This record gives sequence, structure tokens and C-alpha cells, in this order.
Amino acid sequence: MSLYWRIFLLNAAVLIAAVLLLFGPVTVSTPVAFAEGLVLVAGLVAMLIANAVLLRIGLAPLQRLTRAMATADLLHPGQRAAVSGTGEIAELTKTFNAMLARLESERAASSGRVLSAQEAERRRIAQELHDEVGQTLTAVLLQLKHTADHAPAAVREDLLQAQETTRAGLDEIRRIARRLRPGVLEELGLHSALRALAAEFATSRLSVTTHITPGLPQLDPATELVFYRIAQEALTNTARHSGARAVELHLRTLPGGGVGLLVRDDGRGIGRAPEGAGIRGMRERALLVGAELRIGAGPGGGAQVRLDVTNSTTERHSRENAR
Ligand SMILES: Nc1ncnc2c1ncn2[C@@H]1O[C@H](COP(=O)(O)OP(=O)(O)O)[C@@H](O)[C@H]1O
Ligand SMILES: [Mg+2]
Repeated sequence: MSLYWRIFLLNAAVLIAAVLLLFGPVTVSTPVAFAEGLVLVAGLVAMLIANAVLLRIGLAPLQRLTRAMATADLLHPGQRAAVSGTGEIAELTKTFNAMLARLESERAASSGRVLSAQEAERRRIAQELHDEVGQTLTAVLLQLKHTADHAPAAVREDLLQAQETTRAGLDEIRRIARRLRPGVLEELGLHSALRALAAEFATSRLSVTTHITPGLPQLDPATELVFYRIAQEALTNTARHSGARAVELHLRTLPGGGVGLLVRDDGRGIGRAPEGAGIRGMRERALLVGAELRIGAGPGGGAQVRLDVTNSTTERHSRENAR
């Protein structure tokens, strides 16, 4: 029923009830007697209450839709307003749901473009760091060694020191380049890359353990990169914010097929901390392959990040890529 008729009929029902009362045993004299006044006021109150209740019921779908609009979040896709009945409100709800679906897919496509541009840029910077700065520093290192070999003893010590500093700089650049471009991912595959990543985060104060189920299904490179970057951000957050002593990284098969990543620490937990660029980036990446990402508290109270890539998400993703 259309909103127009709904409101009209609600009001008509209340007014007709009032008029019908006139045919009942009601008399109104002038001036109004006290008892009659009492009946009139009671009748008025009853009508107002009936009207309010009926309007509330009639407008409830609109309120539900408003709530759905206010809470819609493209980083948590898949939420839809419930469609009830027919008429304009149902039509409006359906249109809103369709718009949300369109926005979600456009958002996923555009963040996909942004992220792949970002990856390409990272790869370029890593390459340049390695090829340009790395080569120059290597040359400097050789020159220093050569000079130190021929230098008088008085400056040799300084030259050796300079050599050490240069070598440390070179290591640092290699490390930055590796972080920018997960070369291990391309060379050794996801499992070794994750182990290397875990090793990078392990310190005397933070133990990192990796549990990778053998024989996991093969993933496409885009999905592997999503796993790698999300694990990287989750471990960075653990190291930076959690104060944890231990963190576990699991890569395992999901009960219904597919692959799941779980990073769980025993730190102070995320609590109500607002999501920053890091967590938003994780969500964007998960959306990219249509995977489900859940960030919250683990069983021990620490932070837990779960990424589930089911078989259906991988199939959908490759279908969309083929289009
Ligand atoms: N493992 C964690 N343990 C405790 N707090 C966390 C953890 N991960 C994230 N947080 C909290 O969530 C916030 C948002 O994280 P993030 O989006 O990665 O932004 P950033 O790391 O740049 O601060 C952090 O500032 C921190 O307060
Ligand atoms: Mg972060």
C-alpha cells in the first residue's frame, strides 16, 4: 500500500471511530456538563494515542531504512536494509540496496586500482633503491676497502669505521627494498615469505610463531599479496601497539575449503581504539579479493586479525577479473 493511502486510512480510521461514537449513547449539552467533558477528554486522548500508534506502525519501515542508511559502511559490505511489504517504502528500500551494491562494487574496483598503482610504485622505488643507491654504496664500500688497504695506519681505523657505517647503510637499504617489494613472495611463494616476515618481527621481547598447514591450495598472486600485506600490517600493529610478549601467525585451510590467515597476540587488545589508516588499508585489501576480514579481541583478550578467503570468494574474484 502506498504511503499516501496508508496515512490517509490511518487517520480515516480514527475519525470514523470518533463519528461512530456519536451514534452511541452520547449526549453533549450546552454548557458542557462535567461528566460529559470528562468523557470527551478521555475520547480525545484515546484517539490521539490510537493515531500515534498507527502512524508509528505505518512509518516503521521508513525508520528502518533511515537507520540502514545512517549505518551503511562501504568497508563492511553486504549489509542490506530489510524490504517489507510493497509500495513506495519497499521500492525506496530496494533502490537504496541496489545503490549500496553498486557503490560497494565501484569502491572495490577503485581501491583495487589504487592499491595496484601503489604496489607498482613500491616495486619501482624498491628497484631504484636496489639498483641505484645500492650499487653506489657498494662501489663506495669497495673504494673504502681499497683506500684502507693503502692508507697509513693513522687513518685506517677511521676508514674501517666508515666502511662499517656504509655496510650498515647498505643493509638498511636492502631491508627497506625488501619491505617495499615482497620479493620473497615472487621468488619463494607465500609460505616462505610469511616465515621470513615473522622472523623479521621476532625480538627478545616478542616471540613470533608461524603455523602453516602443509598442502594448502594454490592461490593467485593477487590473493597472496593480500595475505602478505595484511599479515605485515597485523604484525606491525602487534609490535607497535600491543605490548604483547607472543604473537601467533596461522595459515590454514578453512572448514569449507579455502585459506584463512589468523594473527593473534597476547597484548592489551585493540579495545575501542579508532581504526587508522593501517586497519582501513587491511579492509580495502580484503575487499579487493572479496575476502572476509575480522579484527577484534582474541580468546585471551589480545588482538586478533582473521582473513578468510573461501573458495567461492576466489572463484568470484577470478570471474570478475576475467570480465
Ligand atoms: N595488536 C594491537 N594491539 C593493541 N592495539 C592495537 C593493535 N592493533 C591496532 N591497535 C590499535 O588500533 C589503532 C589503529 O591501528 P591502525 O589502523 O593500524 O593505525 P596505526 O597503526 O597507524 O595507529 C592503533 O592506533 C592502536 O591503538
Ligand atoms: Mg598500523
